[in-house]
Amino acid sequence: MNFELTEEQKMVQETIRDFAETEIKPGVMERDEKAEFPTEIIKKLGELGFMGMQVPEAYGGTGMDSLSHAITLEEVARVDASTCVIMSVNNSLFSNPLIKFGSEYLKQKYLPLTSSGEKLGAYSLSEPQSGSDAKAMLATATKDGDSYVLNGVKNWVTSGISSDFVVVFAKTDKNAGHRGISAFVVEKGLPGFTTGKKEDKLGIRGSDTSELIFENCRIPAENLIGEEGQGFKIAMATLDVGRIGIAAQALGIAQGALERSIQYAKERQQFGKPIGMFQGIGFKLADMAARVDASRLLVYRAAWLKDQGKTIGEKASMAKVFAGDTAMYVATEAVQIHGGYGYIREFEVERMMRDAKITQIYEGTNEIQRLVISRHLLAD
Ligand code: CAA
Repeated sequence: MNFELTEEQKMVQETIRDFAETEIKPGVMERDEKAEFPTEIIKKLGELGFMGMQVPEAYGGTGMDSLSHAITLEEVARVDASTCVIMSVNNSLFSNPLIKFGSEYLKQKYLPLTSSGEKLGAYSLSEPQSGSDAKAMLATATKDGDSYVLNGVKNWVTSGISSDFVVVFAKTDKNAGHRGISAFVVEKGLPGFTTGKKEDKLGIRGSDTSELIFENCRIPAENLIGEEGQGFKIAMATLDVGRIGIAAQALGIAQGALERSIQYAKERQQFGKPIGMFQGIGFKLADMAARVDASRLLVYRAAWLKDQGKTIGEKASMAKVFAGDTAMYVATEAVQIHGGYGYIREFEVERMMRDAKITQIYEGTNEIQRLVISRHLLAD
């Protein structure tokens, strides 16, 4: 067993850490306050090759391994969880279904654009009445000649407003249960495709989240990903990979909150000494650090398993549930350590606590992750 990163992975880590500190961190508080999308940052990340990290070079990506991708997301979330989720969705949820199931036409048409940062991808599975129970979707795609006509309302779409292309799931056969679900690439600007309101969120406010509304939206038949009826499996396989990204995001938030807590515990003096010298605070830091490290091991293992071509579902869910719960725990303790200062907007841990919460909710709630894990444990 080898816990060392390769020279290439270390280089990726140094490059993205430097970029995060110098380019992403300076405006993070303002973007959170104004709920402002990091448009220029995403463009630069694309130019540096960080928006198509797992996309093969033949389709404009950098063809890196999953571990490098996880490390990148961790480093970005350490300073800004919003930029991180935009990257994760574009790199994973949009790109992976095309890489794994898409036709040559779809790969060539869309992946170079989303990998370069010129255009942005999103993923749309949930609907107002269908969240954890993803099969219960109502959106329909009806074949009509050489197109499909899409109808329905989707919600909770990360980058719903700012994206250019969306992987959308809809029923092509209403009577076939999950085997009647299909996946499509849908372009913004098509008649009948509108975005709903931008959600006013507790955290990750620098990313946008919205509804998507389809009213007789006609999409070319060649935009079907894989085969008709394969959509639910495509959605699930995509989420298996996406969950490693969210786990890495949670890990980065936790790492950021831990670092700020250590610094504060050294600087803040009460009763004549730094508060870190009190066991009540020192032990908190110890528990936080141990859980951050354990999360890192789970996240890196899940990414490593993907790189080995192994089955990842259960281990990705373990990484997501543990890192998500850790992010919430560490960020909450970080606020506690900062006392009153932790509760005001001027101190970053306040934002981190708000940002951490979503990692227990999206890309499958942590209850769903436990369901996935327990089903694996109890399977024959
Ligand atoms: N990979 C491939 N296929 C899979 C799979 C996987 N990981 N998991 C299940 N399947 C297949 C099964 O084999 C089965 O196929 P067959 O019937 O052909 O054998 C089929 O899918 C149905 O499986 P289940 O009966 O297990 O399905 P279920 O209804 O019990 O659901 C679930 C399973 C795990 C609960 C799933 O519905 C789920 O993950 N729900 C959460 C959805 C989710 O994560 N949503 C997040 C949306 S994205 C987002 O958050 C917004 C954003 O922009 C970031």
